[in-house]
Amino acid sequence: MHAIGIDIGGTKIAGALVDENGAIIRESRVATPVADPDALVAAVVGLVDELRADAPVLGVGVAMAGFIDHQQANVIYGTNFGWKNFPLKSEIESKLDIPVIIENDANAAGWAEYRFGAGQGHQHMVMLTLGTGVGGAIIVDGKMLRGGFGVAGELGHMRVVPDGIPCGCGQCGCIESYASGTALLRTATELVESGDPAGKRLAELKAANGKLTGAEVYQALTEGDPGALKLLVDLASWLGQAIASLSAILDPEIVVIGGGVSQAGEILLTPVREAFRKYAPAGGFRPELAIVTAEFVNDAGVVGAADLARVSLSPKVN
Ligand code: BGC
Ligand code: NA
Ligand code: ZN
Repeated sequence: MHAIGIDIGGTKIAGALVDENGAIIRESRVATPVADPDALVAAVVGLVDELRADAPVLGVGVAMAGFIDHQQANVIYGTNFGWKNFPLKSEIESKLDIPVIIENDANAAGWAEYRFGAGQGHQHMVMLTLGTGVGGAIIVDGKMLRGGFGVAGELGHMRVVPDGIPCGCGQCGCIESYASGTALLRTATELVESGDPAGKRLAELKAANGKLTGAEVYQALTEGDPGALKLLVDLASWLGQAIASLSAILDPEIVVIGGGVSQAGEILLTPVREAFRKYAPAGGFRPELAIVTAEFVNDAGVVGAADLARVSLSPKVN
């Protein structure tokens, strides 16, 4: 039976009807009513109704950024909308006649890669998503690691710099503040504003567009601009070091990097792998894990959320 995956982002809510093999049958999207939880719930319900048409559906998986509890029901701490202890599952289920589970966005993306993308064939995988924030998912022995309270895999909040840059989680120095798309845009903006000649190309692109966004940084990178590339290498160094620490704890076979920054491809991966080798404990002697970019571009969240609904809502075998 098909399942529905919903991915609630900061600007849009994407939805898809997904089959057992992770293939999208039908998809749709609406703008996110950011400031209004009731309207947001109504938008999700509307998408589900549109997507299911008259076909029977197993259930709905809803992915969003934030700390989700073990029951896959409540948003303990929603980073995008400032939600605290929001009962999203019951809010949606009260307006629908099919079961719903809530899932962390990066867990959903990681699950899609594990089942149908770059992580296929591996049992021990870590996913890192580099977008507005840094998200994480940990697959151990073919299962999503949820931890004691449901909030394992919040890898963006590893503290890498004592009293470093403030983070949306309320702490300072999280890797999210150094390796996210937001962080890359921040360092690019700082470079332009410093007047350093290394920021010349970025300054030109900024002037042409009226402002500096991720698109200009991406363009400078693809042109091979040394100033922008240096910023990406710095980001990659943070990431490689984090992966070295994660390998000491989790020993994954493969690390999949997704999110907007991963579109840089090899120019990101090469310095990430170099930093991993430089900082890996027992480096040179431990078996080396694979570090790759995600295969799904935009649909990982909806595909993973739908499949996780299938996993959580299907009768357990043991
Ligand atoms: C949030 C995570 C989320 C990640 C990516 C982080 O700031 O804490 O829950 O997975 O951003 O969206
Ligand atoms: Na996660
Ligand atoms: Zn944090």
